[in-house]
Amino acid sequence: MKQTSLTQPPAFGRRIASSRLFETETRVVQHYDVAAVRREFPAVENMVYLDSGFQTPLCRPVKQAYERFLREGFETAGPKQVWLNRLEETREKVATFLGVGPQEIAFTKNTSESMNIAANALPLSVGDKVLMIEGDHPNNAYAFLNLRRRGVGVEFIPMTEVVNAESFRSHIDDRTRAISMSQVTFHAGHRFDIASVGRLCAEKGLYFVVDVMQGIGVVPIEAKAMGASFIGSGTHKGLLVPQGLGLLYWNAALTELEPDYLATISLAEPPADFIARVGNMALAPTAGRFELGNFNLPAIQALGAAIDLINAIGIENIQNHCFDLGDYLIERLDELDIGLVGPRERRHRAPHIYVTALPADHWLEYFKQSGIRVSPERDGIRVSFGMFNVTADIDHLIEAIRRRDVPLASAARTTALSKLA
Ligand SMILES: Cc1ncc(COP(=O)(O)O)c(C=O)c1O
Repeated sequence: MKQTSLTQPPAFGRRIASSRLFETETRVVQHYDVAAVRREFPAVENMVYLDSGFQTPLCRPVKQAYERFLREGFETAGPKQVWLNRLEETREKVATFLGVGPQEIAFTKNTSESMNIAANALPLSVGDKVLMIEGDHPNNAYAFLNLRRRGVGVEFIPMTEVVNAESFRSHIDDRTRAISMSQVTFHAGHRFDIASVGRLCAEKGLYFVVDVMQGIGVVPIEAKAMGASFIGSGTHKGLLVPQGLGLLYWNAALTELEPDYLATISLAEPPADFIARVGNMALAPTAGRFELGNFNLPAIQALGAAIDLINAIGIENIQNHCFDLGDYLIERLDELDIGLVGPRERRHRAPHIYVTALPADHWLEYFKQSGIRVSPERDGIRVSFGMFNVTADIDHLIEAIRRRDVPLASAARTTALSKLA
């Protein structure tokens, strides 16, 4: 059959390097052609979209990948081998994106599934202990808390603004077997020192499981430098794909890590005659051992297109652009005396996630009515950026706050500072 090709992502090279984009203390450099990238996300012209920490809007390359899949399915009832070949191409792209081999990448359903696969693959027994961070994402925590059924304990260490190896060290004892944590927190934008925790795990002989759902696609990830045994993620935030597709990196040197569930594709030599036998149950030497049955093929093809887009822009450029937007947001919040709930310093914060100390019950509906998409979080309103955001989006937010209720905004600063004390 005729294979239709997708439009190649345009080059998003830097167009303006010297001019200032707006007049303020903060300097936002044009790291890439943001206006051109923005045109790939039509939804962001219909509203002020500051909610990529929830999900990113659909972009044209992802939509085209889905459309191609639907067209092919309509016309040919499914060129499955073509689709499976594209799956392997996407696996290679994911692997390169994370700096690992394709044999170390599995496709899953979402972060929760990846975390559950990881938790259940660890060789843990009664009395063993896993360390986690209190208040980290529940989709990571429950995967490990469920191991209590097998007599495995979870100890939560406090969440502080900075979490690194030293935060965990004094909690490790002779029953500690693993640490599991997020790279970036969803509710206040902490960016933890994953590499130092990875080194601690190597030093102490612990397994290390990392949830990168909030960071991936914005923060560059070097899986080997993290020292992780497993890394799990979904793809509907920085990786731009609709919900229902997840990723799992497995350090292929850790061959003792085996799946709790088994399917034909998990095997090294699936039976050609499709008859299951106890004699051929050796596991695939690849991360395929953790995969189960058929795949979310349209989403996987869309992921390939999304990674092409991210690579055309450059992940470092996306990170730097979001950091600049964050500096600008902080400066504008300071003008209004509105506190930031999470870390302020670039070295401790995520580039793209900021929680303003505006009580959600008082502000969420107002922002919605003002055409501004943000998320409610534990301690305020979360503003989160994507590659398409511009300073004008932040100006709209600030103007909306100014228009409404300046005295209440000031009160929010006091609340934030007392929470951090
Ligand atoms: C850190 C983190 N992990 C996991 C998830 C989501 O889990 P899942 O992909 O299973 O829906 C989120 C947010 O949606 C998150 O922020």
